[in-house]
Amino acid sequence: MVTLLENPLRVGLQQQRMPEPNIIVFFGASGDLTKRKLVPALYHLKRERRLPPELTIVGVARRPWSDDYFREQMREGVDQFSDGVGSEAAWEDFAKGLFYCPGDIDNPESYQTLKTLLAELDEKRGTRGNRVFYLAVAPNFFPEAIRQLGASEMLKDPQKTRLVIEKPFGRDLSSAQQLNRVVTQVCKEEQVYRIDHYLGKETVQNLLVFRFANAIFEPLWNRQFVDHVQITVAETVGVEDRAGYYESAGALRDMVQNHLMQLFCLTAMEPPNALDADSIRTEKVKVIQATRLADVNHLENSAIRGQYSAGWMKGKQVPGYRVEPGVNPNSTTPTYVAMKFVVDNWRWQGVPFYLRTGKRLPKKVSEISIQFREVPYLIFQSAAQQANTNVLTMRIQPNEGIAMRFEVKMPGADLRSRSVEMDFSYGSSFGVTGGEAYDRLLLDCMMGDQTLFTRSDEVEAAWRVVTPALNVWESPTDPATIPQYEAGTWEPSEAELLINRDGRRWRRL
Ligand code: BG6
Repeated sequence: MVTLLENPLRVGLQQQRMPEPNIIVFFGASGDLTKRKLVPALYHLKRERRLPPELTIVGVARRPWSDDYFREQMREGVDQFSDGVGSEAAWEDFAKGLFYCPGDIDNPESYQTLKTLLAELDEKRGTRGNRVFYLAVAPNFFPEAIRQLGASEMLKDPQKTRLVIEKPFGRDLSSAQQLNRVVTQVCKEEQVYRIDHYLGKETVQNLLVFRFANAIFEPLWNRQFVDHVQITVAETVGVEDRAGYYESAGALRDMVQNHLMQLFCLTAMEPPNALDADSIRTEKVKVIQATRLADVNHLENSAIRGQYSAGWMKGKQVPGYRVEPGVNPNSTTPTYVAMKFVVDNWRWQGVPFYLRTGKRLPKKVSEISIQFREVPYLIFQSAAQQANTNVLTMRIQPNEGIAMRFEVKMPGADLRSRSVEMDFSYGSSFGVTGGEAYDRLLLDCMMGDQTLFTRSDEVEAAWRVVTPALNVWESPTDPATIPQYEAGTWEPSEAELLINRDGRRWRRL
């Protein structure tokens, strides 16, 4: 339990801010993301009085919806996936700023219709030509949507227009480079917001504060004291109804290249010179550039994939991945990935970073655990007195917080030690666990703050790290050779071997 001090640290990351009046255009407005996350996030911000009254939302999708039907759908989203609309008056006020524009990603006429509508809305709602174009569509539509936005000159003004691109950004290094080229043909890097919702999580942003606003951890944060680092993002859900997307993405593209890579970067990067977007992003790029898979010539020593088979979750039988709706019965798409990264720099030489993520694992838990070295010389000789090593765990979700494990003497006449934990929990210290990631990211984008978004070189560097695994895993593979793990269990045995081979074990969470 941690008590809050009276004079809390001020780090300038979170100040009350209000964006300028603007229009947010959601491409993919009839999709899940808009309904579940994006519009509920804006409604929440509006109720918190973080948005200007002029804020206007335009949904674009192929379906021939009306403004009213779009409003109904969005209301359903707020009711089902967030705290509900609350007062009718608040919802009415928000809903009158919602508009729908049917359109086709690849039809130039749709962009002209949209452009006309936006100009009308500027007049009607006082949004002054400020626009955010948010691509919440399947990744294969990104290039065309960006080209068409460019051709219709809707991104022409770098001061007033922004482009938000969902993940995954590209399918591999060359497609990410290609997509970056498409982007730079139509707008400037300062207009581009490549989103990774993990960066919007309070606990992820806290990694920066925890590391660089405390004097006592940084001196230990290196090869001299750290034995290895484990990063886990475990999910209990299966593929759900997303097979169409997931079959061609898999865990490596869906989670590792972005979310886990971000957790890794913020753990391993050097202190930035300042808290501005470019200082932080430059340090992130530097550490990714120094990072590689441990042994690319023997991939099984540094990258393992797996797929869940039928099993039990919370007392209920669940099907294996290959029989989920929409999944190819011979699919080789990984639902689990474990990797061993090494970082070729002075700070981390010889300290492996083990990363793992999977669906249908026993628990939903994301954490980073710093495993410290053994004491240099153990004065307690008998096995019973053997000390455990210190572990610092940053819990990203759930039960957000930080725990430090250390040894103490057990009460009694004998000199015996036991591990105990000192624990900070967001819930008990602040009464809240932090806002929704999309609230923060949408607000930052409207404010023109790119700190929590990935830069073009960063996204390319991240692809470079995982490319050796992609190259092998993308080549024709006999489905029988994909390691399986039973739903509700932790990992395929090959992934255990990945870490056991080094004399270490995955944390049991
Ligand atoms: C998304 C992935 O980016 O992140 C999903 O596409 C995954 O497959 C989700 O379930 C996990 O996010 P969170 O915030 O629930 O950890």
